[in-house]
Amino acid sequence: MKARIFRIAIASVVGLVIAAGIAWWQVRNAEQMTTGGTAAIGGPFQLVDHTGRTVTEADFRGRHMLIYFGYTYCPDVCPTELAAMSAALDRMGAAAERVQPLFISVDPQRDTVAHLSDYVGLFHPRMVGLTGTPEQVRDVARAYRVYYARSPGSAPDDEHYLMDHSSFIYLMDADGRFVQVFPAGASPETIAEQITARIQG
Ligand code: NI
Repeated sequence: MKARIFRIAIASVVGLVIAAGIAWWQVRNAEQMTTGGTAAIGGPFQLVDHTGRTVTEADFRGRHMLIYFGYTYCPDVCPTELAAMSAALDRMGAAAERVQPLFISVDPQRDTVAHLSDYVGLFHPRMVGLTGTPEQVRDVARAYRVYYARSPGSAPDDEHYLMDHSSFIYLMDADGRFVQVFPAGASPETIAEQITARIQG
C-alpha cells in the first residue's frame, strides 16, 4: 500500500514538473512574441487541407489568418480554444469574412484528411483543417514556435495517446505577417474586439 502511494506521489510530481515546464515554455514564448521579434513567427508552409487539397500559406493571402495548432483527439484544451475562435468570429459579423480560421494538426499520424473533415465542421463552417507529413507539420510548428510532443504519460503502444502542445491562437495579417497571439483562455469577446481593432488598421 505504501509503495503504491509512493508511486502515485512520484507520478504526481513528474506530472507537475512537466506541466510547469510547459507553462514556463508558454510564458517565455509569449514574452518573445509580444516584445518584438515578430518577423520570426510564421512563414511559408505546405500542408494538406481537410478536403485533401495541397495548400500553402499563399492560398490564404488577402485574408487574415486566425490559426490554432492542436489535435482532434485532444480531450479539452483544443475544443475549448476552437470554440472560442468560432464564437469570436460569430461576434464580429460581416468583418469575420476577412478572417480565415485555420486548425493545424500536430498529430498527423491520426489526423487524416477524412478525420479533419469531420472535425472542423463541428466548430465553424469556414474553418479549414490542415495536416501533412510529419516533416511538414514539424516545419510549420517550428515556424510558429509551437511546442508539441507525444505525452510521456501515454504508453508507447497506446493508440489513444495524448499530445502535449502549446496553446496559442495566432493572428496573422493579410500578407501572412504575424500580428499577435491570444493566450489559452482568452474570451471570445476579447478575441473579437482585438481582431476587429487590428483588421481595421
Ligand atoms: Ni489540445
